Amino acid sequence: MRITDTSDLWWKTAVIYCLDVETFMDWNDDGIGDFEGLAHRMDYLHELGITCLWLMPFYPTPNKDDGYDISDFFGVDERLGDFGDFVEMIRMAKDRGIRVIIDLVVNHTSDTHPWFVEARKSKDNPYRDFYVWRDHPPRKKEQPVFPDVEDSVWELDPKTNQYYLHHFYKFQPDLNVTNPKVRDEIAKIMGFWLQLGVSGFRVDAVPFLMDESGVQAPEAELAHPLDFLKSLRAFLGRRSGEAVMLGEANLPRKDQVDYFGGEDGDGLSMQFDFITMQNLYLSLARQDPRPLEKALASRPEVAIESQWANFVRNHDELTLDKLTDEERQEVFAAFGPEPRMQVYDRGIIRRLPPMLDGDPRRIRMVYSLLFSLPGTPVLFYGEELGMGENLDAGTRSAVRTPMQWTSGTNGGFSNAPTRKLPSPLVGDGYSPDHVNASDQRHDPDSMLHFVRRLVERYRSSPEMGWGTFEVVKQDAPGVLAHVLSGAEGRMVAVHNFSGDPATVTFRLSDVEADDVLVDLLVDGQVLSLESDGSATIAMDGYGYRWLRVIRPSGKRLG
Ligand code: GLC
Ligand code: CA
Repeated sequence: MRITDTSDLWWKTAVIYCLDVETFMDWNDDGIGDFEGLAHRMDYLHELGITCLWLMPFYPTPNKDDGYDISDFFGVDERLGDFGDFVEMIRMAKDRGIRVIIDLVVNHTSDTHPWFVEARKSKDNPYRDFYVWRDHPPRKKEQPVFPDVEDSVWELDPKTNQYYLHHFYKFQPDLNVTNPKVRDEIAKIMGFWLQLGVSGFRVDAVPFLMDESGVQAPEAELAHPLDFLKSLRAFLGRRSGEAVMLGEANLPRKDQVDYFGGEDGDGLSMQFDFITMQNLYLSLARQDPRPLEKALASRPEVAIESQWANFVRNHDELTLDKLTDEERQEVFAAFGPEPRMQVYDRGIIRRLPPMLDGDPRRIRMVYSLLFSLPGTPVLFYGEELGMGENLDAGTRSAVRTPMQWTSGTNGGFSNAPTRKLPSPLVGDGYSPDHVNASDQRHDPDSMLHFVRRLVERYRSSPEMGWGTFEVVKQDAPGVLAHVLSGAEGRMVAVHNFSGDPATVTFRLSDVEADDVLVDLLVDGQVLSLESDGSATIAMDGYGYRWLRVIRPSGKRLG
């Protein structure tokens, strides 16, 4: 890796920020966030230092799954603005060095999409094969993704007396991606938005998109689903040299390499690392970094173009589906003990700060860790402020509350009557009175300033994004010490998962006489190294340190 590579393979050192236009900022005071509001907050995002925005679905929609039920792939939800506003927003983002990627939701459509409206009319309708139909559901029962509301992935459509496939809600019929016409439409959708200036896609529900088990393939020879993924990536490459596909693919390790496109790296550009995320919570619950270490060690080797996307929390439930039953119960007990905090028997609906009882040391330790794990960090809006959730909003809506800008009416999100907002605000200790962007901007000790610093240091330390990761031996059981090394240099990150202070002694190899460790998070702190490369540092309970190895004769800044 050379420093110049960081701009070509930009996604490997990006800081991604996910938001829903609907809940971010309402500029015309009708109660619904809009593109104009987002444009007015672009400088806030720029100050935070993020380099890539991920917009959740903003397409026309009946809005029964927060916009993931799309009725027109080539439109903008008129509540949020129009194409003009969309393009203005993209231009503003670009001017501030921020790329924009958007949700590509093509596993299914809304049942109000004109294709489905046509398809269900008759068995010989030209759109019939856009979806997946069966006379009888297959004997092997598949578990729907939302078992609280659906009991089958097949729904009988009375008009034609056949069942259609829907992995998600029944109002989201699955598209038949073995149909070449559907494949052409998907490419057309991507081409359309690329032309409007986006830098790629967060691809929704990839394993379901790739799943053709429910599809009765026509006699024609069908390319393997992964070849279809690769063909989309190739198409993307033809339309734009820089565009990426960030896949939502919660898969076992053994399948991930294929989804990246193996050695050639010509599949997904990035995949969310759900396994590392889940084991992070197990480690936090146990105050023991070993599950996390194991998860990281189990990452397969991937091509230089491929990248892991790390996250603490996203817009869905905090899924714990890849842990064992016992492990999941441990995390439930620690962070979501009440049944109303849990969902689908697999997840927690809370944000991180309330799960950690608002302990600022521990919350900061987790974000310090997020930014120092190899990969690209992805933030969900409000994490930079330490926002909490509203459990009464229920299931996944609990974390989709309006962004908290000020301590004023509706948290500064909108001047509309509160009943018109897309979701209730957060109350109590995490309400906008206590947690808001405006106050934190003026407070150098705030979470916002802390996250800004992490972003800034991460951006200027490419060894973090894509250096090699190695656990450093030391004796403190609650502590993870790891080295990240790249062509530009090395750094050591030390994180204390335990509330007890610890003294940590570790030894680095290949150290020269004058080498020192410079603390990247605390200004002016320099630590000396013994001649054998060892160092002893004191860690507070839930402490975190980023230490860069600096050679006085070298050119790297401390
Ligand atoms: C993905 C999204 C989720 C959505 C589902 C159906 O899992 O993250 O929010 O409900 O796909 O599109
Ligand atoms: Ca509005």
